Amino acid sequence: MTLRPSNRKRNRWAVALLEVQPRDCVLEVGFGPGLAIRELASRATDGLVCGIDHSEVMVRQAMARNRAAVELGRVELRLASAVEVGQFSDTFDKVLCVNNFGMWPDQEARLKELRAAMRRGGRVAIVSQPRCPGATAGTTDRVGLETAERLREAGFVNVRRETLHLRPPVVCVLAETPCGTKRVRYSAWPCVG
Ligand SMILES: C[S@@+](CC[C@H](N)C(=O)[O-])C[C@H]1O[C@@H](n2cnc3c(N)ncnc32)[C@H](O)[C@@H]1O
Repeated sequence: MTLRPSNRKRNRWAVALLEVQPRDCVLEVGFGPGLAIRELASRATDGLVCGIDHSEVMVRQAMARNRAAVELGRVELRLASAVEVGQFSDTFDKVLCVNNFGMWPDQEARLKELRAAMRRGGRVAIVSQPRCPGATAGTTDRVGLETAERLREAGFVNVRRETLHLRPPVVCVLAETPCGTKRVRYSAWPCVG
């Protein structure tokens, strides 16, 4: 997974689209070997990067790849499933998910939990490069449209799609939490910009 140039390219591209700021608190769901975690940490230099993955092997690999940042407390990686996303006490500015959204149980419930764990005006990026046999640009298009629909149903706004032209193409569906979202853990500050 780590060695494929397309994986590196896809993860770098996805992180760039999130426009992570130095003080951002970021969550990645399903980080695998931790390529995007490293990219995220290089941008959120005064913030925090959290990650969850339900595979022990992947957590070990990602820990090894990001050891220095973990030891500095700038990266926190947990063995956990997407269904546990509501358990974080942090409020996320940005959320990333690369090539595992299709594996989440009850996507609508998970997306609503994610939205509740994000600040108002926060950005989510859900990236998919279909790897099923015979996958084409049409497969990518269909996945992108479905993901966009799931995000709208879960209450995200400003939903848009970007494409990276690999074979098959990669789609990144970006969306934001509405500024008027009622949040459980976030309260005081007005949303600006
Ligand atoms: C195809 S890999 C992609 C890894 C990484 N995002 C990348 O692009 O290099 C999918 C990853 O998602 C994780 N995953 C799949 N379903 C998950 C779930 N429901 N909760 C947490 N992690 C999950 C897997 O363990 C695996 O590490």
